[in-house]
Amino acid sequence: MTRVAVIGGDGIGPEVVGATMSILERMDLGLEFVETEMGLACFERTGEYLPSKTLRTLESCKALLFGAITSPVTFDPCYSSPLLQLRKHFDLYANIRPCFPILQEHKLVDLNAVIVRENTEGMYTCREREDDGTVILERVVSEKGCRRIVVKAIKVAKVMGFDKITCVHKANVLRRSDGLFRGVFYDVMRDSGLQADDMIVDAAAAALISKPKYFQCIVTLNLYGDILSDEAAALTGGLGMAPSANLGDNFGLFEPVHGSGLDIAGKNVANPSATILSACLMLEFLKKMDAASTLQSALVQTLTEGDRTRDLGGRLGTREFADKVAERLTRQ
Ligand code: IPM
Ligand code: MG
Repeated sequence: MTRVAVIGGDGIGPEVVGATMSILERMDLGLEFVETEMGLACFERTGEYLPSKTLRTLESCKALLFGAITSPVTFDPCYSSPLLQLRKHFDLYANIRPCFPILQEHKLVDLNAVIVRENTEGMYTCREREDDGTVILERVVSEKGCRRIVVKAIKVAKVMGFDKITCVHKANVLRRSDGLFRGVFYDVMRDSGLQADDMIVDAAAAALISKPKYFQCIVTLNLYGDILSDEAAALTGGLGMAPSANLGDNFGLFEPVHGSGLDIAGKNVANPSATILSACLMLEFLKKMDAASTLQSALVQTLTEGDRTRDLGGRLGTREFADKVAERLTRQ
């Protein structure tokens, strides 16, 4: 049976993942769920942020459903986020972030797009060195990295029914590195059957607000994707609704775009929608298409019929909201 790892993590992570699992467990998925741990609470208990036991468990699985982790508050230059370690360890080079409104009344603009973010290179090499009062960061853009993320974007765009991909970069300044990305983009796109265009990242940040309908699929480098995907989430209904998939060739990590929400943790008020939508992406990755669409329809129906958590103006707690979604599974 396909094994799927589950990590709640810190803050609201265990609550939103627990709520999502309470729904998944009521579906006949033919998956074996294996709970494991990483993050700050794990460090406080075991002395490790990402124990090797966790890594071994993950290696025996096909996917991970993950909540959130909290970074340590004290500035430690040696700290390396377990999430970034996993992206590197499993070579999860593509971060797919759908940006469309589930509830029309909460959207700020008409954006229906997907961001395909390079997830292992760019500013995220974590190779920083200090030299006489100056900190130097190695920023990496490789031809292989550019090629595979554009190939992935083409697949994603086609599956989602889009016919245009926009490459977002800063090649006017970063002429060689982002210039390479832009060049590879047009090269790979030539035989794709899709339209190709490009935009400079600062202009793209503005255009997401001023002409959102212009965008369909955005392919971009790591840090640009990080920033633009939070912006796009805010524009389409907030971080409480934004899911993501971190994909490699053999493993997928699925997580809400939001963080560990320490201010609301432990109160049963967090909105688990982003995690439920991340679980839908996971089911699609595991080729359980019917289950994915049943779960997504149950979530959409729950929200549109007015059963909501407090952030969306409702009165339900995290667990009660999940129960409402589970009740609707049978009606699909
Ligand atoms: C995200 C997060 C991560 C990132 C952090 C937690 C390392 O912001 O997944 O968008 O920057 O990629
Ligand atoms: Mg981010």
